[in-house]
Amino acid sequence: MSKTLIKNIGTLAGILPAGKKRLCGEEMAHLETISNAWLTIEDGRIKDFGEATNGKCEAANGEYDTTIDAQGGTVLPSFCDSHTHIVYAGSREGEFVDKIRGLSYEDIARRGGGILNSADRLHELSEEELYGQAMRRVNEIIHKGTGCVEIKSGYGLTLEDELKMLRVIRRIKETSPIEVRATFLGAHAVGRAYAGRQAEYVEHIIRDMLPAVAAEGLADFIDVFCDRGFFTPEETSQLLEAGAKYGLRAKIHGQELADSGGVEVAVKHGALSVDHLEAMTDRDIELFRQSNTMPTALPGTSFFLNMPFAPARKMIDAGLAVATASDYNPGSTPSGDMKFIVSLACIKMRLMPAEAINAATINTAAAMDVSNDFGSITRGKVANLIVTEPIPSIDFIPYAYTMPIIRRVILRGKEIKE
Ligand code: NIG
Ligand code: FE
Repeated sequence: MSKTLIKNIGTLAGILPAGKKRLCGEEMAHLETISNAWLTIEDGRIKDFGEATNGKCEAANGEYDTTIDAQGGTVLPSFCDSHTHIVYAGSREGEFVDKIRGLSYEDIARRGGGILNSADRLHELSEEELYGQAMRRVNEIIHKGTGCVEIKSGYGLTLEDELKMLRVIRRIKETSPIEVRATFLGAHAVGRAYAGRQAEYVEHIIRDMLPAVAAEGLADFIDVFCDRGFFTPEETSQLLEAGAKYGLRAKIHGQELADSGGVEVAVKHGALSVDHLEAMTDRDIELFRQSNTMPTALPGTSFFLNMPFAPARKMIDAGLAVATASDYNPGSTPSGDMKFIVSLACIKMRLMPAEAINAATINTAAAMDVSNDFGSITRGKVANLIVTEPIPSIDFIPYAYTMPIIRRVILRGKEIKE
């Protein structure tokens, strides 16, 4: 049994009682902390923690294989990131420049760029090369403090290439210390071979792709880009019903480009989350209120596309739980920096620092159904932790919005070295 002690913790933050799976409305404004703390880890899980009296970790007496000196820094639960597309080929900076020139995200998609551009590039790469590119990004986000990530397919858009993406995600699961959940997103855009035949493409997903994905056990969840110019609520409904037959819970891209019914269909199917929500309405707030579906804001996307932000403040004021995620992808936000997402949530969506940290930890963990094991400092949870340099307060985290304050990263109780 391996035992680790973290001592000299200036502030231990993000403490929650066992069984608390999400924070709603006013609860989000509270971040439980202990000053001058210690924390112990046994076999990769948080064993105990408390306040050090007279510099001594009294309740933590005993023998440890490893002692980590936090040197007065703050210890937080690792970020969780419930929405990414980090398995992709190459990059799309040409479209970034087109957007500066005035083209919209939808203009680019209509010209055959966007998601289809990434699908063409992914088709050219071997599984090995794709894994290599994706692992660079996985290691990047680990060092930026993410300990649990959801990764979507959706740049394959053919049976073979969707399976290629999902096998790469499985290999990441097997080889990286980060916790991974895989989402099948065959309905991200209509594959080129089916141009002009969207209904047939939906049928192809249901008839051919889903059974093959399920046969290899490659996905935990199913996603659909339910929005103007992409898939309709009716098609989304068919796809979610088909996914449910294989035990895949839904996570939906919705209400990004227009008020297009994404929340309604998602809630109807008991989706885990609806993500984006930049164009959501007051009616959607009511729908969320009557469900367990987690509204998930992606402020990095709004920032990068220079578009409106999801009304997260309004949702919290209405008593809802709100999660954030990075949406790391080559087109609408090529960054998986969750600390920056916390800053954007404060600066652009007017969340208080504690709310933004809760959105980026416990609530985003709930949006991928892992909050029993991740997303807070709780006895028994997986010891995925961030140790910062000494900082004056929790508010300093979003305030210092480009400062690399994370000094150490611990995943499953083990420090990850450079
Ligand atoms: O979440 N909105 C749909 N899909 C991605 C973007 C994908 C892309 O442009 O490559 C998103 O923003
Ligand atoms: Fe996305």
